[in-house]
Amino acid sequence: MQISIIGTGYVGLVTAACLAEMGHTVTCLDIDEKKINNLHEGIIPIYEPGLSELVKRNIKANRLFFTTSYTYAVENSDVCFIAVPTPSSEDGSCDLSYVLKAAKSIAECMTKPMIIVNKSTAPVGTCDKIEEKIQAHIKSGLTFDVVSNPEFLKEGSAIHDCMKPDRIVIGVNSEKAAAVMKKIYAPFTLNHDRILIMDRKSSEMTKYAANAMLATRISFMNEISRICEKVGADVNEVRKGIGSDTRIGYSFLYPGIGYGGSCFPKDTDALRFLAKENECTPLLLDAVHAVNVQQKKVLTEKIVKYFDTKGGLKGKTIAIWGLSFKPDTDDMREAPSVTIIKDLSEKGAILRLYDPIAMDNAKKLLENHQNLIWCTSEAEAAKGSDAIALLTEWKQFRLINFKPIQDTMKGSAFFDGRNQYKPEEMKNFDYIGIGVPDHILENDIH
Ligand SMILES: NC(=O)c1ccc[n+]([C@@H]2O[C@H](COP(=O)([O-])OP(=O)(O)OC[C@H]3O[C@@H](n4cnc5c(N)ncnc54)[C@H](O)[C@@H]3O)[C@@H](O)[C@H]2O)c1
Repeated sequence: MQISIIGTGYVGLVTAACLAEMGHTVTCLDIDEKKINNLHEGIIPIYEPGLSELVKRNIKANRLFFTTSYTYAVENSDVCFIAVPTPSSEDGSCDLSYVLKAAKSIAECMTKPMIIVNKSTAPVGTCDKIEEKIQAHIKSGLTFDVVSNPEFLKEGSAIHDCMKPDRIVIGVNSEKAAAVMKKIYAPFTLNHDRILIMDRKSSEMTKYAANAMLATRISFMNEISRICEKVGADVNEVRKGIGSDTRIGYSFLYPGIGYGGSCFPKDTDALRFLAKENECTPLLLDAVHAVNVQQKKVLTEKIVKYFDTKGGLKGKTIAIWGLSFKPDTDDMREAPSVTIIKDLSEKGAILRLYDPIAMDNAKKLLENHQNLIWCTSEAEAAKGSDAIALLTEWKQFRLINFKPIQDTMKGSAFFDGRNQYKPEEMKNFDYIGIGVPDHILENDIH
């Protein structure tokens, strides 16, 4: 099938590459000329495991094309996916301007009947708005369908998630559109049917409800971890204890430094706004948000408290291991590390920063901040520091030989924002995690 994808970011590019891999002919469009020029030269704008190979293979096979021209993209497709940003507005509502601008541009170029599929995460009613926008700008007499098809991929495992989706949610208001969407996704569901066809509003709501549920689990565990700290329980044990109940399950039960990324914060905010707009008070979602705001401060508070008895944080050097909002991505959007780094630097700490992949994106976000030293490895970051704070659980931090690292450090504290280590593995450190009993060295020497 001839498909175009409007917006060549994390979702658009991955979706395009996977659809092309399954045999569709796909044209990716973006308004960012530099991005498209780079893609023509095989330069991939984001870090996503496996994506580069997939893109290059499909360019070579003449199934994947890139353009900045709406006329070219629309002419060369029967189905047009929208995968542009839907950021938060200042009031927390979802900013639909990118989506509606894309819809208008598509409409202005349409010369034949088309299906327009919204993949951007957007509030209930967005398909209706896209429909109105297109209707207002197409040549009279042309017919079209608007479909909701929210995306559930996770950065870091996006190719796998797209190739082997748990489910494909499709919201339609015509049987014809449903049949075309089934055809597009048929190669992805060969071993069992994973397509859920529903009405457009339910489909739009499904995406928000899914993200809100995941954010809720995280905030719930973060709250449990705080209670654990107060009463002397170990949240790592509690997590296993509750996760073994099949009604609960093990996923998304990890306490940490708060959820971040380009989806959970903005999507829970947008759902809270949508609820309020419709005279429904989102009591639980407001609490999920409040817990998260607090949780982003928890590690900083622990660091400040620790150095209180050691002359204060001012002038102390902290190595920061990991910057991206989660491992296997270069995405820094809403990363909790940014809040922590800003807070620590404002309190006078000197920060030695390292991330395996997200350094360039982090530098752009933090360029105006004082006392930041950018390092090329976790060992270099630790050199001369009073403490290490682990903020992202990259695999390469899992099996560290700590002895030579600790020999180069000034102090001996380890703040584990992801509970990556067991306290007994960190016997030579003052080890402080999230929701676990602190392990402080006797006489505080190492
Ligand atoms: N990133 C994720 O993990 C993820 C997962 C599921 C859903 N989503 C949703 O998918 C949507 C896209 O997210 P993303 O992370 O891929 O964003 P992104 O910022 O990585 O990419 C969006 C792209 O759209 C382009 N763009 C903006 N306006 C345009 C226009 N008018 N015409 C053409 N291109 C335009 C931008 O230049 C950019 O390259 C959002 O609604 C997001 O919430 C994201």
